[in-house]
Amino acid sequence: MKFVLMGITPANDLVVENLTTLKPKPKDEDLIFGKVYTDRMLLREYKNGAWQTGRILPYQNFSLDPATLVFHYGQEIFEGLKAFRQENGDVVMFRPDENAKRFALSARRMMMPEVPEDYFLKSINKLINLEREWVPKARGNALYIRPTMIATEAILGVKPSDEYYFFTILSPSGPYFKEGFSPTRIKVEDHFVRASIGGTGEAKAGGNYAGSLMAAERAKEDGYSQVLWLDAKEMKYVEEVGAMNIAFVLDNEIITPRLTGSILKGITRKSVLQIAKDLGYKMTEKDITIDTVVETIESGNLTEIFGIGTAASIAPVGEIKYKDKNLSVNDGKVGPTTQAIYDRLIGIQYGSVEDKHGWIHLVE
Ligand code: PLP
Ligand code: COI
Repeated sequence: MKFVLMGITPANDLVVENLTTLKPKPKDEDLIFGKVYTDRMLLREYKNGAWQTGRILPYQNFSLDPATLVFHYGQEIFEGLKAFRQENGDVVMFRPDENAKRFALSARRMMMPEVPEDYFLKSINKLINLEREWVPKARGNALYIRPTMIATEAILGVKPSDEYYFFTILSPSGPYFKEGFSPTRIKVEDHFVRASIGGTGEAKAGGNYAGSLMAAERAKEDGYSQVLWLDAKEMKYVEEVGAMNIAFVLDNEIITPRLTGSILKGITRKSVLQIAKDLGYKMTEKDITIDTVVETIESGNLTEIFGIGTAASIAPVGEIKYKDKNLSVNDGKVGPTTQAIYDRLIGIQYGSVEDKHGWIHLVE
């Protein structure tokens, strides 16, 4: 089923400013993740207790007072979603309603005003419609959409800002991992933690990512592309990866850690739970300890591991490192379950597989 997002209504007004110069568009084969941005962006300011008229304007810098709150205390949230060019030429977004909801959840957690979900959807639809020529054609490439909110009041007191920018930029992008859809190496972090129960892990807040950098850089120095985080209290249960959720194929069951409050509620994860069901796999959300992961890789019962996220799509894991152990998963090759889930997800996104669940939103 395809949903048509209606034009912007006067109540949700949005002004489109003139564009005088166009940037050259990159070739599909040159795209990497998040390096080039389209000609236009969306900006809506919040001040005097209300959202102001939104604007679609030429992509440009912000001019902000050095005392602006976001620079000091990091009151910032973001989203990540994609628009795909389907085989018949349609430009579609994948489950943008879910991103709108999670953006509101993140806003509440970080004491920021909510962007009405309807405005989030319609304004982003309008922006992409204007920028549709930027949506890449090749499978594996997509237009990455980055809605963001920052605190813009200039004051040094620690408090929720009275003023905000909600903005969205678009980036024609290639695969998140340079290796593309081929097995990646992941390091289990046994010292630092990403999030704890009661913290901000469930919000998509910039600060969560800043706090993860030291572990991620150390893992990179050792040749690993991401960190696998454990729970903060016992360092025992697997939580998620740097930019994706995670799943294990163990004794023919797909297991993904349950959402405890410290894990990001991934939209791709939610979709994969449904896809697994559609394909006849048993997929369960439950606690899994790192000791179980290690033991069952060694015993041969754990046959596949894959990451799940918007930017990363389905990312096969070919090796994990935990303490002094380096464990190869499925001989470093893509396993059949990972491949089947990837094929179904990508098929729905690029239009070669029927969208039975109404996940695809036509941009028009
Ligand atoms: N976990 C983290 C920490 C992420 O940054 C992401 C990416 O957004 C995900 C999981 C996957 O979430 P989603 O599938 O909604 O992109
Ligand atoms: C996404 O998958 O959209 C993300 O936000 C991951 C990352 C680039 C932070």
